[in-house]
Amino acid sequence: MSYVEILKAVFPLLEGADLASCVAVCKQWRDIAQDDYLWKCLCAKRWPSICKRPNPPTVTYYKLYQTFYKHQRQQTLLPPRLSFDNLEFFIDIWTGDKLIFSEVVSGPVLQTGIKCPPPRICDRLGFHLEGPDYKMILPVEPRFKAPLGETVSVSVLVGRKDNNKVACIINKSVFDYIDRTAYRAMAFDYLGFSPAHPFVPGIRAWISLLFVDDKNDSVLDVFGIEIDFCDAAKSRDEVLWLLDILDWK
Ligand SMILES: *[C@@H]1O[C@H](CO)[C@@H](O)[C@H](O)[C@H]1NC(C)=O
Ligand SMILES: *[C@@H]1O[C@H](CO)[C@@H](O)[C@H](O)[C@H]1NC(C)=O
Repeated sequence: MSYVEILKAVFPLLEGADLASCVAVCKQWRDIAQDDYLWKCLCAKRWPSICKRPNPPTVTYYKLYQTFYKHQRQQTLLPPRLSFDNLEFFIDIWTGDKLIFSEVVSGPVLQTGIKCPPPRICDRLGFHLEGPDYKMILPVEPRFKAPLGETVSVSVLVGRKDNNKVACIINKSVFDYIDRTAYRAMAFDYLGFSPAHPFVPGIRAWISLLFVDDKNDSVLDVFGIEIDFCDAAKSRDEVLWLLDILDWK
């Protein structure tokens, strides 16, 4: 048997990953290993119906196998089309019917976060604030107090300066989960997406009041407000992509 005949006898016995390695060895191996008949056989093992057609549904069976057999690598996100410089957030908080906090906050301010948290915050909250998940945090200066006996609710809209459109992030949600060990009161709402993205499942926007211990169990002494989308978006770019597909009006 000649050298080429040996290759031709052995290659059909190989699995796809090994045959793909042979393609990379040298030109002679490549010419033999890229024979589309070999790849048709491999495709037929994986997707038998493929061979009911006379031709491959892609340019070659080799391409089909290469594209869909390999483990899909994590796709890198394109740069977001929105930027925080272009955004402003409208945050309103009530106890009952009484407005206790109301501010327009620019995107860059939420980006900057809290440079030096108050000394009395607890460890758990400190770890949370330093944690890796992306969050937007507004320092509240001066601090405000939210009484606990009453319903505390929140609304957040986001506006774009380039086209004057607005989207709803949180629509009157109630801070009904108060974690006294982590010093956070939390509320969430489901994001509403543009009709161009009808199949995006329920993704929540979370908002937390960050408070310090002021030895009074009936009020929260709030020093910061945090917004995150950690269900779905864990980096700045992911957050911008998520905001981009909201139902802007
Ligand atoms: C906000 O909530 C109110 C009352 O539940 C509802 O009527 C309104 O449609 C909501 N708005 C949005 C943008 O979801
Ligand atoms: C706790 O705060 C409430 C509301 O501000 C106030 O009425 C009450 O006197 C405070 N209690 C103490 C022990 O400071």
